[in-house]
Order: sequence, then structure tokens, then C-alpha cells
Amino acid sequence: MASSLLIGFGTETGNSELLAMDMLGKAKDLDFEAKCACLDEVGVDDFKAADYLIIICSTWGDGEQPDNAQDLYDAVEEIGDDELDGVQFAVLALGDTAFDLFCEAGIQWDNILEDKGGQRFYERLDCDTDYEDEAEEWIDLVLEKMN
Ligand SMILES: Cc1cc2nc3c(=O)[nH]c(=O)nc-3n(C[C@H](O)[C@H](O)[C@H](O)COP(=O)(O)O)c2cc1C
Repeated sequence: MASSLLIGFGTETGNSELLAMDMLGKAKDLDFEAKCACLDEVGVDDFKAADYLIIICSTWGDGEQPDNAQDLYDAVEEIGDDELDGVQFAVLALGDTAFDLFCEAGIQWDNILEDKGGQRFYERLDCDTDYEDEAEEWIDLVLEKMN
């Protein structure tokens, strides 16, 4: 059976969403059972049900989650330490090196998913404002790793 892939994005101005949609298209071409959703449209149970979980998330404010990612982040903080056991995850973080807390929200996702029992199958990429090429390359390498 094809592996299930959930691509969750947290965004304020759409950059992370565009990358997530792009990854969805590529994943479907590779026959993954893939779904893409904003982090305010899914819950902890969706994370648990996924074979692979990709988080693509920007950082806002002063090192904060985008509004549409905060509630789910808070919910994941509340679950037990092994509840994401078996979930293979990788995080793509968008940010801007002009800010002190560069890519902090993505870093927080990367840490909490591991703390809750997930297995990081690919290293996080922290992207500055000129992110397109390296983000696309990361997406391709992640899909290759999953295949
Ligand atoms: C008001 C504002 C605050 C931001 N705060 C941060 C920050 O604290 N750390 C960081 O790395 N990037 C920060 N950024 C940069 C965004 O994360 C970056 O522009 C990202 O590409 C936006 O992606 P999105 O469209 O998916 O939200 C900030 C941008 C703005 C406009």
C-alpha cells in the first residue's frame, strides 16, 4: 500500500502554502497518498495517522508561530511523550535572517515532534528570504528519501 503523507503548512502571507502545494503535486506524481492542509485544518489525530509528516512553517512576530499554526502547536505540546511514535517527520522552516529568532517557529516544530516520539527522517532546512531554489531542492530530496 502507498505510504500516506501529510503536508501541513503554517503561513501568514502564503509562501509556505505555495511550497506545500508544490510538494503535494510532486508527491502525487510519485503515487504517494498525499494530503496538504493548513495547520488550522488538521489535528493531532491526523498527525498520528500519517506515515510521513512534513511541516512547512514560517516564523512571525518576534519568533512566533503564524496565527494558523499556534493552536495545533499548543495541542501537540499537551500530548504524551510517545504519542507520535512511528510518525516520520521533516520540517521546512521559512524565515528571515534579519530577525533575531531566525526560523524559530520551524525549529519549535522540529523539536516538539521529536519530543513527542516522532522520528526525524530528514534534517530541517532553515530558509532565508531568497528561499525558492533551496526549498525546492530540499523537497525533492525529501521525496527521494521517502520513495
Ligand atoms: C512582521 C514580520 C515578522 C517576522 N518575524 C520573523 C521572525 O521572528 N523570525 C524569522 O525568521 N522570520 C520572520 N519573518 C519573516 C517571514 O517568516 C518570512 O517572510 C516568510 O517567508 C513568510 O512566509 P509565509 O508567507 O509562509 O508566512 C517576519 C516577517 C514579518 C513581515
